[in-house]
Amino acid sequence: MMERSLLPAYAAHHVAKHAVLREYMNAWLPKLGFSYPQVAVIDGFASAGRYRDGQRGSPLIMLDAYLGRSDADRSRFKHGPLFTFIESKRSFAEHLRAEIDAIDDLKGASVEIIHGSYEKEFPKVVERLASTYGQPLPTFAFVDPRGYRETPFDLIRSYRRQLGGKAEAMVYVPVNFMARFVMTDLTENALRRALGGIDAIERVRENPELVDREAGERIAQEFADLMRREYDYVTQFTIDPVRHNEYHLFFGTGSEHGVREMKRAYWKVDPVAGSGYQQDPRQARGQQALFAAAEVTSLPPEDTLPALLRERYGTRIFTVEDAQRWTLLSTRFLDRPHLRSWALGPLERAGDLEVLESSRRRSGDYPAGTRMRFTR
Ligand SMILES: C[S@@+](CC[C@H](N)C(=O)[O-])C[C@H]1O[C@@H](n2cnc3c(N)ncnc32)[C@H](O)[C@@H]1O
Repeated sequence: MMERSLLPAYAAHHVAKHAVLREYMNAWLPKLGFSYPQVAVIDGFASAGRYRDGQRGSPLIMLDAYLGRSDADRSRFKHGPLFTFIESKRSFAEHLRAEIDAIDDLKGASVEIIHGSYEKEFPKVVERLASTYGQPLPTFAFVDPRGYRETPFDLIRSYRRQLGGKAEAMVYVPVNFMARFVMTDLTENALRRALGGIDAIERVRENPELVDREAGERIAQEFADLMRREYDYVTQFTIDPVRHNEYHLFFGTGSEHGVREMKRAYWKVDPVAGSGYQQDPRQARGQQALFAAAEVTSLPPEDTLPALLRERYGTRIFTVEDAQRWTLLSTRFLDRPHLRSWALGPLERAGDLEVLESSRRRSGDYPAGTRMRFTR
């Protein structure tokens, strides 16, 4: 094992990233592992597995989602999951191996640590999985570099295409860091590869008088569009460790369940808006500021779910199914439980919503088939 002081420092924003990852893995791994013959997890930028202060890194967090379950739960997996961790820094890869070796019993999980670069190794891992297992192979790939030089989007594209509709990815994109270089030629090649082509860069560069303010947003938009070409659903979570230094975690999936579970993870980390984590700048010097430090304490009224529903439906009749799907896929909110507890229930009690047809036995329930409309 490496001397603790040589391990990476745990930065405050890691807390949010790791909380999202932990929550999602805890939902994803059993859900897919109980019903598919094989599931796989790939960490493309694994690091050492452990931070200087003893905190667990992404590989151990993902492994915990399997090892941390009860024996009864684990026995429901058709086969132990495959975990592949790629790390280019030799000492970190070795430390990670020592961490894994120190685990007494992997309970049937298969863990492979690859010392090498993401760019070279990830396609090989994907190739091997594609040729060994039937498709679709439920796979979760975590792509968490420090910058953007080693993350050509092509790799995500061919990953998705080779492993099929159950291959999901969560990708870190340091939008503001990229924005600093977008008007220069300094890293144009890397930017082009990360954003899928020169057209994207040209769009980001449009209206140079505004680009300073908007480049981060435009880059995030370009990346989201790129992801949408590969995935049915794309969500994003913003992490702003200190103001103006934000990055995004983009998530792509082909499954509505995947969207729901990922959004649940976001809401755990950001109970006010479900969309991001903002660190209080006063606590920005590397301490582990916790979520209470978020500065936003409530959403503006026009962004609340009742306001959004009212805007969408006016006084038209709508079904609960339509409202659920729209809430899940087109707003920041969750179809369960937010729609009922933050919108339909309070709106009906206030007399703003009228239920026209429902098989419900109790007021406040909105079972399938329920039809309703706003009264004003
Ligand atoms: C941001 S850290 C990853 C943190 C880790 N995913 C976690 O959440 O605990 C990025 C890691 O990628 C490694 N790295 C840098 N370039 C790489 C490359 N081209 N391929 C693979 N790993 C690389 C670095 O050594 C570093 O350990």
